[in-house]
Amino acid sequence: MTQFDLSYEKYLEEFNALLDKFCNKLNCRPAVLNDSLVYSLKLGGKRIRPVLMLAVADVIGTDREKVKNFALALELIHTYSLIHDDLPDMDNDDFRRGKPSNHKVFGAGNAILAGDGLLNTAYSILFDECLKGNEFISAAKYICDCAGVYGMIAGQSADLLHEHDPDAGEDVLEFIYENKTGKLITAATVVPSILNGGKYYSGLKALGKKLGYLFQLTDDILDVEGSFEKLGKSLGKDSAEDKLTGVKIYGLDNCKLRVDIVGDDCLKIIDGFDGDASFLYGFVNFIKTRLG
Ligand code: IPE
Ligand code: IPE
Ligand code: MG
Ligand code: MG
Ligand code: MG
Repeated sequence: MTQFDLSYEKYLEEFNALLDKFCNKLNCRPAVLNDSLVYSLKLGGKRIRPVLMLAVADVIGTDREKVKNFALALELIHTYSLIHDDLPDMDNDDFRRGKPSNHKVFGAGNAILAGDGLLNTAYSILFDECLKGNEFISAAKYICDCAGVYGMIAGQSADLLHEHDPDAGEDVLEFIYENKTGKLITAATVVPSILNGGKYYSGLKALGKKLGYLFQLTDDILDVEGSFEKLGKSLGKDSAEDKLTGVKIYGLDNCKLRVDIVGDDCLKIIDGFDGDASFLYGFVNFIKTRLG
C-alpha cells in the first residue's frame, strides 16, 4: 500500500464510522422508507467527496471536527443524485455500486422518495450546523447552491436535454461537466476554506471545478471501456442513450489526452498551496489511474 492508499483508508474509515452512526440512528416509519435510504447509503461507493473534504481540511489546517457533518450532508446529497439518476425516466440503470439500483429493489416510487428523503435529511443536518455560527451558515448555503438549480440539478437537466442532440458541442459539454459533477466536488474543496476564513478560496474553487471535469471525463471513458467488476454499474449506457459525453465530442483517444492535460492543470493549482499537499497530488493520480 502506498502512503496515499493508507491515508485514503484512514479518511474512509473516519467517514464510514460517521455514516454508520447516522444510519443506525435513522428510524423512519414505514420501514420501507428506512430500508431504502440505508440500502443506497450502505452499498458502498468510493466516498470521494467526503474523503476529499476531510483531506482538504487537513491540508489547509481546518479542524476536521468542523467539516465532518458537512461531509455527511454532501454524501447524502450525492447518493440521492445517484438514486434519481438511475431511475427509468432518467438514465434507466439497473445497477449501482455493484448491486441492483434502488428502484430495482424498492420500485420507482420508493426510489423517488428515498432520494427526496436523503436530500431533506441533508438539509436538516446543514440547518443544525447553521446554529454554530456565521461561517457555518455560509458553508451550508454553499452546499445548497452547488446541489441546486444553478448546480448539480442544472447539469442533470442539461444532460437529459441534450440526449440525441447532434448540434450540442463543447460549450454544452462543459456546462454539463461543471454542474452535474463539478459542483458537488467543488463543495467538497470549498467548504473547508469557508470554515477557515476563506483560506485558498479561489484556488480550491478552481481545483474543485478541474477535478470535477477530470472525474467526469474518466467516467465517460470508463462507460466505454471499463469493467462492471471495478465500476459496479452497467457499461455502454451513454452510447445506448446517445448522451452528450466527452467521448462523443472528442473521441476516446483525445479524451485520454485530455485526462493528462486536465490532470496537470489540477497539479498546478495544488502547487499553489503551502503545507503538505501530498494527498491532493495522490488524489489526482487516483482519479487518472481509474482508467487502469
Ligand atoms: C458517480 O459518482 C456519478 C458521477 C458523478 C460520475 P461516483 O463515481 O463518485 O459514485 P460512487 O459514490 O463511488 O458510487
Ligand atoms: C451522473 O452522471 C451525475 C450525477 C448523478 C449527478 P452519470 O449519469 O454519468 O453517472 P453514472 O455513470 O450513472 O454513475
Ligand atoms: Mg446521468
Ligand atoms: Mg447515469
Ligand atoms: Mg456516467
